[in-house]
Amino acid sequence: MAEEILRIRGGLPLRGEVTVQGAKNSALPLMAAALLCSGETCFTNVPQLTDVYAASRILNRLGCRCHITGNTVRIVNSGEGGCEIPDADMRAMRSSIMFLGPVLGSRKECILTMPGGCELGPRPIDLHLDAMRQMGVRIRSLDGVMHCKAGKLCGAHIHLPIPSVGVTENIIMAAVAAEGETVITNAACEPEITDLAGYLNACGAAICGAGEQTVVIQGGKKLTGTEYRVMPDRIAAMTYLCAGAAAGGAVCLRDAEPKHLESCLAVLEQAGCTVGICGNRIFLDRSGTLRSIRYIKTMPYPGFPTDVQALISAVLCTARGTSLLEETIFENRFKHMSELMRMGADIRVSGRIAAISGVKSLNGADVSAADLRGGAALAVAAAAAEGETVIHGLHHLDRGYENFAETFHNLGIRAERVSFFASEHEKSRLKPKKC
Ligand code: EPZ
Repeated sequence: MAEEILRIRGGLPLRGEVTVQGAKNSALPLMAAALLCSGETCFTNVPQLTDVYAASRILNRLGCRCHITGNTVRIVNSGEGGCEIPDADMRAMRSSIMFLGPVLGSRKECILTMPGGCELGPRPIDLHLDAMRQMGVRIRSLDGVMHCKAGKLCGAHIHLPIPSVGVTENIIMAAVAAEGETVITNAACEPEITDLAGYLNACGAAICGAGEQTVVIQGGKKLTGTEYRVMPDRIAAMTYLCAGAAAGGAVCLRDAEPKHLESCLAVLEQAGCTVGICGNRIFLDRSGTLRSIRYIKTMPYPGFPTDVQALISAVLCTARGTSLLEETIFENRFKHMSELMRMGADIRVSGRIAAISGVKSLNGADVSAADLRGGAALAVAAAAAEGETVIHGLHHLDRGYENFAETFHNLGIRAERVSFFASEHEKSRLKPKKC
């Protein structure tokens, strides 16, 4: 099977307007939450991603009927079904862990293994399991399989040692089905959590404070499915704005949510971009010289997002001066830096700090994506680089971006996705035989 590659010829200023897709990191917990709501749920603005298809497979295995038509996902929940998530489905993505809370909430039992997803360092699930134990769940591990069971789920006061996005979401989903009140302190505040609470409250739940550090959930309400639109993807939005910042020119995003991007837009303006906002449209223009940013530290929302760290590093490679980037959320999220150096970037990495000294221009090269946002960062750098860049490892991009190559093309970037043959031999092997 020939691999597909992304071929980008950079060096020209961008000019284009694109629509921002629905948020991957909201659509996935939302789909899991549908297990808690009887009857039919219809999600709109769902991005067409391999992770969404993986979530659909898990829902079908758990007794739901999940139908994907374009950007609409219809889920019919009979309320009955299994509680085991096969290892292959758990390994497909990190978000498979988001089924723990809703499966326990609806089945009072869940059998699962460690989730997969981007390798950003050891991504333990200890806080997920600790939170479930505090709600009355007994967990037994055998040969890597975790058997979680609760006679009944009880509300609890759970203080998170770190404001984990996934753990906050799992607690909310278990708490809506638990008896009594659950209070989460030091909760994550990401907009995706507000989106999840918005859906569950529209189904009849009583969740207060989502998006703030203290969330209070009154459990035991009967939840009925409804129609719900997924919020815009703030990281996809930043991907396209960073392409405009790196290559220069003018780009416009439709269907964005500017208020989710305040910390990011401020950094782009600091770097010398002009940013305009009109309703759900964001305009970016960069015609002057890019300026370095003395120090950027990734932080939980509303701080600078870890998911934008790779993207902004690609922009800063050709900024005048030296920028310091500190990654505080994940232990190993600099894999893209070595690939940027293959394109001529001047970067020094020490532990969780990267020093990026701007160069006059990057050069096209043959590079490989090691994770989702790192792969997107290589494409951002390629849009600015002189010459042609070939990006391998597109399966990472397909997990989080709908029609990535087409969107880049619509921004005015010479981007095309093609089959890649490692050798002429392989190419001839795959040619249809003359009969
Ligand atoms: C979510 O991952 C996002 N994924 C990530 O986006 C994002 O980078 C991350 O939040 C932080 O914003 C989805 O929503 C599907 P965490 P999540 O739990 O929930 C540690 C992308 O590119 N931790 O907030 O897994 C963990 O190791 C992806 O779209 C524990 O130690 O992130 C990390 O250091 C990448 N034990 C920190 O907490 C646990 O039980 C924050 O992780 C759980 C997490």
